[in-house]
Amino acid sequence: MDPNKRPETMERITTPELANAFIDEQIAALREQIGDKKVLLALSGGVDSSVVAALLIKAVGKQLVCVHVNHGLLRKGEPEQVIDVFRNQMDANLVYVDAVDRFLDKLAGVAEPEKKRKIIGAEFIRVFEEEARKLDGIEFLAQGTIYPDILESDDGVKAHHNVGGLPEDLQFELVEPVKLLFKDEVRVVGKALGLPDNMVYRQPFPGPGLGVRCLGAITRDRLEAVRESDAILREEFAKNGLEGKVWQYFTAVPDFKGVGIKDGKRTFAYPVIIRAVNTKDAMTATVENVPFDLLQHITQRITSEVENVNRVLFDLTPKPSATIEWE
Ligand code: XMP
Repeated sequence: MDPNKRPETMERITTPELANAFIDEQIAALREQIGDKKVLLALSGGVDSSVVAALLIKAVGKQLVCVHVNHGLLRKGEPEQVIDVFRNQMDANLVYVDAVDRFLDKLAGVAEPEKKRKIIGAEFIRVFEEEARKLDGIEFLAQGTIYPDILESDDGVKAHHNVGGLPEDLQFELVEPVKLLFKDEVRVVGKALGLPDNMVYRQPFPGPGLGVRCLGAITRDRLEAVRESDAILREEFAKNGLEGKVWQYFTAVPDFKGVGIKDGKRTFAYPVIIRAVNTKDAMTATVENVPFDLLQHITQRITSEVENVNRVLFDLTPKPSATIEWE
């Protein structure tokens, strides 16, 4: 039997009971596979890696070492939540790596989107590799591979979904407990494992994070403007019943300024672009019809609360002709 093929008899996990049965089965299988050895996991805080972490914590406790790399491109509150949930609440073995300066120094002056992605991906592997080398006796590498990753790729797993690219002398046996699950099933399992709702029902977030929303060459002032405006947008969407309804929503900040006025004085500052889209498979997308008074309220909050910003724009473009992200 092909271990990467979902058996036709496998029932879709839609209820807490089915999730608990899956969890019990996986805990037994993980204990059998791992024995008394150690497992390493790159824990981003996204739903897939978080569910894998929670399963492994239940199965092998402190034999799991989670590495959370803060590359400075995460959303507001994300690194803090990873530490709170996994270290404080679940008592996991968590290595937190503050690599913010390292990533931002590497990215300084780089404006080309694909080059930015490559730098972020390569640097991530380098940081992860350094952490892996500091640890003794690791034999397994856990990954949050899910079934669409296997279905959609020709040769295994999409590059941006795993920690592929580790050097030859640092190869581990893979542990992929959710590789036969679809995203909705991973969420049901995450909920049954007790992960917080805002982790389990989180909208998709690209690997390069806010790096592709701070358009052009990344600067710290614009990166802060993206992070703060995104936090306001998410807060307002949650308050107004749009969280969980709109597929993906975020802000982007371009690398040019416009003239404005604040407290009777001329300002020269950045615009913030709001994007809110719906899609099934991310191949095409339509724009959410966000109520105009909510857009006006969000504009008021962003222009008064976010530094270096004096305008807010709403992106009306479907995919195609645009893509979902700006870069
Ligand atoms: P686009 O912009 O291509 O985005 O319409 C489609 C979906 O993919 C996400 N996306 C990425 N995800 N690494 C990722 O992990 C990336 O480099 C990347 N680029 C885009 C995007 O957020 C959207 O959900």
